[in-house]
Amino acid sequence: MKKLILMLAAVLTLVGCAGTSGDYRIVDGTIVFNTPERIEGQKSVLGLRTAPIDTVRVGFIGLGMRGHSAVQRFTYLEGVEIKALCDLLPDRTDAAQEILKKKNLPEAALYSGEDGWKDLCCRDDIDLVYICTGWQLHVPMAVYAMQHGKHVALEVPAATSVAECWQLVDVAEQTQKHCMMLENCVYDFFEMTTLNMAEQGLFGEILHVEGGYIHNLDEFWEQYQGNWRLSFNQSHRGDVYATHGLGPACQVLDIHRGDRMTRLVSMDTESINGAATAKRLMDADSFANGDHTMTMIGTAKGKTILLQHNVYTPRPYSREYQVTGTDGFANKYPVEGFAFRHKNLGEDVVKDHEDLTGHDFVSEEIKEKIMEKYKHPVVREIEDQARKVGGHGGMDYIMDYRLIYCLRNGLPLDQDVYDAAEWSCIGELSAASMDNGNMPVEFPDFTRGDWNKTQGYRHAVK
Ligand SMILES: NC(=O)c1ccc[n+]([C@@H]2O[C@H](COP(=O)([O-])OP(=O)(O)OC[C@H]3O[C@@H](n4cnc5c(N)ncnc54)[C@H](O)[C@@H]3O)[C@@H](O)[C@H]2O)c1
Repeated sequence: MKKLILMLAAVLTLVGCAGTSGDYRIVDGTIVFNTPERIEGQKSVLGLRTAPIDTVRVGFIGLGMRGHSAVQRFTYLEGVEIKALCDLLPDRTDAAQEILKKKNLPEAALYSGEDGWKDLCCRDDIDLVYICTGWQLHVPMAVYAMQHGKHVALEVPAATSVAECWQLVDVAEQTQKHCMMLENCVYDFFEMTTLNMAEQGLFGEILHVEGGYIHNLDEFWEQYQGNWRLSFNQSHRGDVYATHGLGPACQVLDIHRGDRMTRLVSMDTESINGAATAKRLMDADSFANGDHTMTMIGTAKGKTILLQHNVYTPRPYSREYQVTGTDGFANKYPVEGFAFRHKNLGEDVVKDHEDLTGHDFVSEEIKEKIMEKYKHPVVREIEDQARKVGGHGGMDYIMDYRLIYCLRNGLPLDQDVYDAAEWSCIGELSAASMDNGNMPVEFPDFTRGDWNKTQGYRHAVK
């Protein structure tokens, strides 16, 4: 009898569970998502280089708050032609066309309606499709664009489920096209400097990184076209917007460039403000997304990441960015600061070593010297123009500049499709953990075993 019960329990743990996609099984108390087979002829796009494109011809899909400003930024880039503009709503394509007209640039072809984006993807004079629609349209559009021979850049999060993450990976591998998620926060000035310092060993060995998205969206919910964002959160538990916090953390930890995220555990609060907002705006009686969600992640090399998500309560904006190393520490919110062991900085930065203790931030004056000395070479190259053009203070422009620079020079992009998948899958992984009593979840290896082939995260330069 005991044997029968054990067998039954084993069978039960192998079937998928309710909640999320259910495409997982529970093995020894850990949730394990299924990994699809790599089909024949499909090959890795790790370090993908494609033929240099002298003038990158771009088509934009989704011209709301984010897409409209992306078009604006692109008018400042060299080596770019804006060929086509698409939105569900024709007045939004007209408004974007106005940007081109004002700058005396050639007019773009315009597409609108539910399926206008398909016609845009079928054009034969476009190299890059730049997608800025709501989350649930990202993957169908990106897949279709790659299958029609285009490179793709798509807004955050790239995908809304583990299955969608695999779809992006598989189609990028099948078509050998670039698929870059437009994670802009990795290009912010403090994060770039910190990354450069990490690459130069200033923090010693990095042990722990924190990140998050703390942004009260009360004033914004009604501005998302068709209420796509609140409606998604109403039906999805978990950290559904993890990439701004996770991107910088993964870059300093060399994720899939020598280390990999192996497991996570998540926990959330009940939903009070989210539920009230959904009642008010949608007359909804339930709300799946907790007001505050926390996720702890472990890596193969014994590092940890803490992620947080809260878009519902009155708190100062924060991406929680924090790096803890064996020899140093960086913190971005609410105050930017560094702390080090004395020996790490060098005489040219710190004259008075008495000013530094391992227990406090370095002085503002020293911090400014550090920010200048360790400014990332990519930032040094484009900073003035980026600050002028703007886009969250300039980081958006640095992102666009790097995307075009790499395409024009046939270089691997700064973010590959595996980054897009790893940073976007948190939504479903965290939901699965919480739906199962905060059970650990094994991270899918989207590189299918290649995570240790590249050593260290680096920006490609010609
Ligand atoms: N990286 C960042 O800092 C940042 C900031 C804000 C938003 N975003 C991301 O940008 C994306 C868009 O957000 P937003 O704030 O601009 O939302 P939005 O609602 O203002 O814009 C979405 C646009 O997509 C259009 N659209 C809907 N269906 C379409 C279809 N079938 N074909 C073509 N267009 C269609 C809508 O009409 C709308 O103009 C989201 O993924 C969001 O997460 C990123």
